[in-house]
Amino acid sequence: MSASTLMAPTVQPQALGKVAVLFGGSSAEREVSLMSGSGVLQALQSQGVRAFAFDPAERPLQELLAEGVDRCFIALHGRGGEDGTVQGALELLKIPYTGSGVMASSIAMDKVMTKRIWRFEGLPTPDWRLVDSAEACEQALVALGAPMIVKPAREGSSIGLTKVMDASQCAQAYAAAAQHDPEVLCEQFIEGEETTCPVLVVDGRAQALPVIRIQAPDGKYDYQNKYFTDEVRYLCPSGLEADEEAEIQRLVVRAFKTLGCRGWARADVMIRHSDRQPFLLEINTAPGMTGHSLVPMSAKATGLSYEQLCVQLLASASLDTLQR
Ligand SMILES: Nc1ncnc2c1ncn2[C@@H]1O[C@H](COP(=O)(O)OP(=O)(O)O)[C@@H](O)[C@H]1O
Ligand SMILES: [Mg+2]
Repeated sequence: MSASTLMAPTVQPQALGKVAVLFGGSSAEREVSLMSGSGVLQALQSQGVRAFAFDPAERPLQELLAEGVDRCFIALHGRGGEDGTVQGALELLKIPYTGSGVMASSIAMDKVMTKRIWRFEGLPTPDWRLVDSAEACEQALVALGAPMIVKPAREGSSIGLTKVMDASQCAQAYAAAAQHDPEVLCEQFIEGEETTCPVLVVDGRAQALPVIRIQAPDGKYDYQNKYFTDEVRYLCPSGLEADEEAEIQRLVVRAFKTLGCRGWARADVMIRHSDRQPFLLEINTAPGMTGHSLVPMSAKATGLSYEQLCVQLLASASLDTLQR
């Protein structure tokens, strides 16, 4: 796959109109969004797009109308930005926006809802239990076996996530997750290699970008390691066997389509050591877009620059078909 197949031929930055880059917001991932949004803003401006910053935590979204905004680039992460709420507001304001619509955004924000749909469609995702107490968490451990991951159903950036090795850790792990979301997900731990793979819609076709393999110290890909240390290695090209890479790419495109995603997304996939079986963990519908983020890294491997990627995503901004 080359940049030419990923770049829609007709994109002219100047023709994209007045653009609000939405970033900041009030979720737990505000800091990450600030980094994503300022990168996107700068990139769009450098390409001649009339873009400006808009922080929904500071201004009501209705002001986008007074600003005469033609389209929005959503660089918000987490709840109240990635979860369908902002998307719904923009639908009502009739301002096209990047990425998935209301339904796919809100399903993808909820890891349990996402897993239910994937499981129903026969896509591999680790076994899980939805729990509402520390006791239920202990029962989940008996059912799923150790180690087990305990995490909030609707959070990101590894916030509130614990790897539980035995029952004595359940109470604390449950509390850590429940602090962020009353819906707590217990999930079978997949011992293996961590990968992530973006999907980009070009000319109406969902395409997987190159897979990125992630090597974190002790396999601990947590908030600190994700954003604040240099200890994680990101391999792109992934170094996986070609057929394994292709299998992951097919899987993430199916994962994307099954949820009805639009525009772009990035799915996390673990490859189990014992049998090389890939498992979908989650899909992010407004992935990180800092200069060091993973979607830009993967796009770059095909020859698509960060600036081109931003313009391309912006050009794909749309409204739900039913609204038009
Ligand atoms: N079931 C699992 N097996 C192995 N590792 C997991 C599992 N669930 C989460 N992890 C680890 O925790 C990280 C964050 O989990 P993830 O489900 O992607 O949520 P988020 O990125 O939204 O916080 C993953 O990238 C992976 O390193
Ligand atoms: Mg993740």
